[in-house]
Amino acid sequence: MGAGQMGTGIAQVAAQSGFTVHLNDVSPSLIEKALGAIRGNLDRAVEKGRLSAEAREAAAARIEPAPDLATAGGADLVVEAIVENVEAKKGLFARLDAACGPHTLLATNTSSISITELAASTKRPDRFVGMHFFNPVPVMKLVEIIRGIATSQETVETAKSVALKMEKTPVEVQDSPGFAGNRMLLPMINEAFYCLMEGVASAEDIDTVMKLGMNHPMGPLALADLIGLDTCLSILEVLNAGFGDPKYRPCPLLRKMVKAGYLGRKTGRGVYTYQ
Ligand code: 3HC
Repeated sequence: MGAGQMGTGIAQVAAQSGFTVHLNDVSPSLIEKALGAIRGNLDRAVEKGRLSAEAREAAAARIEPAPDLATAGGADLVVEAIVENVEAKKGLFARLDAACGPHTLLATNTSSISITELAASTKRPDRFVGMHFFNPVPVMKLVEIIRGIATSQETVETAKSVALKMEKTPVEVQDSPGFAGNRMLLPMINEAFYCLMEGVASAEDIDTVMKLGMNHPMGPLALADLIGLDTCLSILEVLNAGFGDPKYRPCPLLRKMVKAGYLGRKTGRGVYTYQ
């Protein structure tokens, strides 16, 4: 569910791993756009010799557009990756709960919203789990498997085995604000925005410090642009509200940029500009 950046990546990797995928979004044109992006990624993998032409065709054939939510009724596992908004997600899960068969497991790729709270919008909290992938999904090896208060052991084990089949490394995490990954990552990104706001160094130099000084593959500001500044802000809001600790207070510059619509790569402008 959701053919944005994360949903597209999850669909691609799942199809490459042999799963039949039905890709849903609110409009068929968004699904078509995602299928085009997947096709482009698979073509590049073939060009680089990482994938055979036969495997590309097989993977592409395993993904079907599914503009109708009812298609989820026959699914074994639904992975939700829609907008990071608690009400939108709860509404979708209530509809999925009604549409899906009793055996269907519901998973959310939320980056910070409580799994327990989302599960409570369904009548199957035991068959509800967090599967948190990292961006870009085809490259990043980690999946956080997040257990809500009622998630059954069987559901956790199934989610782990799906992640392993997708050649990812699952780690089990408790349902705590920001889980483990974003609780550590977002304070670093937030601090980079404070450094930028206070004129400690230029954006390029802040990123260079972390790339050359700490061997990070990209600097925190470029990474914020990749994640989306709106997503970064919403994760910080969850950390701030969840822990009530001022160390998570979102940087005013980050808020201002989100208000301006400078959301990062997806809008062509964030900390940096993109063609
Ligand atoms: N889809 C598929 N493959 C991609 C890709 C994408 N979107 N972006 C890059 N790649 C592949 C390239 O094809 C290339 O493959 P190859 O080695 O076989 O040729 C490889 O990744 C490296 O790409 P590039 O050479 O173009 O560029 P870099 O070496 O600079 O790598 C990067 C790009 C993988 C994005 C790297 O900079 C990186 O790892 N950055 C950090 C990403 C990160 O921290 N992600 C986590 C974000 S937090 C998150 O997602 C959680 C959420 O809840 C907020």
